[in-house]
Amino acid sequence: MHHFTYVGSNLHCESVDLAEIARLYGTPTYVYSATTLADNYTRLANGLAGLDVQVCYAQKANANIAILRHFANLGAGFDLVSGGEIRRVLAAGADVKRSVFAGVGKTEPEIKLALENEIFAFHVESEPEIARINHVAGKLGVKAPIAIRINPDVDAKTHAKITTGKSENKFGIPLKQAGAAYEAAAKYPNIFIKGVQMHIGSQLTSVAPFVEAVTKVVPFVEELKAKYGITYFSIGGGIGIVYQDALASGQQAWWDAQPAETRPITPEAYGAALAPLLKPLGLKILLEPGRNMVGNAGVLLSRVEYLKRGEGRNFLIIDAAMNDLARPAMYDSYHEIVPLHRDTARRAFTADVVGPICESGDCFAKQRPLQEIGEGEYIAFMSAGAYGFSMASRYNTRNLAAEVLVKGGSFELINARETFEQQIANEKIPAFLKA
Ligand code: LLP
Repeated sequence: MHHFTYVGSNLHCESVDLAEIARLYGTPTYVYSATTLADNYTRLANGLAGLDVQVCYAQKANANIAILRHFANLGAGFDLVSGGEIRRVLAAGADVKRSVFAGVGKTEPEIKLALENEIFAFHVESEPEIARINHVAGKLGVKAPIAIRINPDVDAKTHAKITTGKSENKFGIPLKQAGAAYEAAAKYPNIFIKGVQMHIGSQLTSVAPFVEAVTKVVPFVEELKAKYGITYFSIGGGIGIVYQDALASGQQAWWDAQPAETRPITPEAYGAALAPLLKPLGLKILLEPGRNMVGNAGVLLSRVEYLKRGEGRNFLIIDAAMNDLARPAMYDSYHEIVPLHRDTARRAFTADVVGPICESGDCFAKQRPLQEIGEGEYIAFMSAGAYGFSMASRYNTRNLAAEVLVKGGSFELINARETFEQQIANEKIPAFLKA
């Protein structure tokens, strides 16, 4: 469910005509719905009713400080993976105390920053990391709260680049070795064993792998509770969203029409499947959702620059590129493409939708059936709120896109389009090259 829908012929975000935003701020521009963001948060937080749940939004999916503030206002903590992400929580005026710090390569300054801000816990990925956290905590004269990330060796059945819970991935400690890792951790004077963590991958479209992983890990969690008195179990993120029928999935009617066997995962189904397995543990349950919080709450607006009619192929050349939305080039992922102005009288046509960057990988869709559309018109990429702007680059000296947040009938720029001057601000020509 989301708040992008046609009102008459024009695509709206809540009550705002998206073409108005495109005209005002230019393109490419990301637009997010504050109401969809809030609904996503609430549905998941309520999905595990009866349990003590703490949602730690994985800000890697979308780290704009306005979005962080919005989630913090709703009660969220954050899943953080760098010093920069810790600083974003502070910049958003939110609290690090409800946040966890994950990632395989935490540096000493990052660990220090997390401790100084009273991080809820470190999600530890290796034994050498425990030693380092202990060392930094010792210097500060504090005890560092930790949970070890367990790799349950479960196939998340998702894209190879975003699966993380298999033994061949670099993440976590295998279940078989985890007991020894906890024993080692318990010996450090400045380490406090607080919980246990796992995360099996991203864009999971069914609940089965979650159930399999939780079931596999629960006996170990019980053992940890008995031995070390842990107080929480983080089951990670990974709940998928709808990409294929993205626009239609904004409506309840679309969900009602999906056969039960193929209905995509929902926060309610996730909660209903997992709550009975988790409740008997009597622990606080942490969730680390990224994509499911923001993915369907954002679109990327772009303008058609040219319609090039090639031999047997049309190329729709737009002003957004792989630097703005990397997912199709990186993972061959599908994003639905819709016109901001829909006109059913138009002819259907098929086109490759491409950006202006000088490589063939800069392609959003091949042979995509669309309505005929021409120069100067606007399109939207649906489901672009997660891993869209946050993965953007400046390749080909393109400025980072603008971001806008909509609520009801109002909207505000939450990130101005980057300028060329900002891009080169830190570059300089060394003296030895100057004549
Ligand atoms: N927790 C941990 C430890 C993670 O590594 C991740 C994501 C999450 C939570 C959040 O997962 P989510 O709920 O968003 O699935 N760039 C890729 C996705 C990479 C996900 C990395 N880790 C994409 O665009 O599909």
